[in-house]
Amino acid sequence: MQEQRILTGVKPTGNPHLGNLYGAILPAIEMANNSPVPSYIFIANIHALNGVKDADFIREKTYEVAATFLSFGLNTDKTVFYRQSDVPEIFELTSLLMNFTPKGLMNRAHAYKAILDKDGNDDNVNMGLYTYPILMASDILAMQANVVPVGLDQKQHIEIARDIANAFNFVYKKDVLTLPTEFIKHQDSIIGLDGRKMSKSYNNTIEIFATEEETKKKIMKIPTDSLLPTDAKSKDCLLYKLMKMFNVENDYLEHFISGGIGYGDAKKVLAENVNKYLAPYREKYNNLIINKSKIDEELEKGAIKARQTAKQTLQKVKETLGL
Ligand code: TRP
Repeated sequence: MQEQRILTGVKPTGNPHLGNLYGAILPAIEMANNSPVPSYIFIANIHALNGVKDADFIREKTYEVAATFLSFGLNTDKTVFYRQSDVPEIFELTSLLMNFTPKGLMNRAHAYKAILDKDGNDDNVNMGLYTYPILMASDILAMQANVVPVGLDQKQHIEIARDIANAFNFVYKKDVLTLPTEFIKHQDSIIGLDGRKMSKSYNNTIEIFATEEETKKKIMKIPTDSLLPTDAKSKDCLLYKLMKMFNVENDYLEHFISGGIGYGDAKKVLAENVNKYLAPYREKYNNLIINKSKIDEELEKGAIKARQTAKQTLQKVKETLGL
């Protein structure tokens, strides 16, 4: 049996919030750091291009994603950590795999179908978006990864990668490409500042790398009812749940529940705890962002290793194809 080779990609968009941290970033780091064999984590900057046409944005977000993973302790001696655009072999493989990808397979891809349904036609769909799943298949197949941790929204893309690999192997009657399997993370979602799941679309997030002041401001706006400081409070109350999550001391929590602490005070304590928890990571992150050469160094180190693997795959593929 082939050892488990884990790979995952992160698109450089958005400001990461605590929901992303617990749902995706920390589990990926933990999986990568604890794997007995090298894992691959990369920043999918080319994938972002089908939507974003802003060079500064792409450049900055790429650094931000890299700095996030590095500040939360990704071990780059164990994990191959790179920018997608630094591994040209991926794009060469994409061109070759185009020939094994039926158009019907792309027609069924969710992102494309969603636009088609919305607009009634596909005239404004760029080919980057249309062929997105082929590039994603190349990311995975180039590294011969067999386990791909992703959110549920990406499951179909892994199935497509498997279909493409299967088609290739079937035509040439050889196991050239490793068939990948998705690993769907069923993390409990964390609650946001309005009590619903923390999500950018609900506008209820706590950004990991906001300033202490910004964080406090958001927390002070958590909606509360009109109970007085002296009134007893329920353990179902959002503020209580958030304080518990951020390890506010038990004595304080009990005092809050039995009556004697007002909402304003509790929010201040919550904000202090959130800021205290994030402080060391924010410091590391800010140091990296100020001095980007350290990030470049890490990503270039990763790209060298990623290219070695991708070159081997590409060579096998080209040989098989008679190129
Ligand atoms: N499409 C993924 C997303 O939007 C990012 C991604 C690109 C990816 N290539 C990948 C994830 C390869 C896993 C494996 O989140």
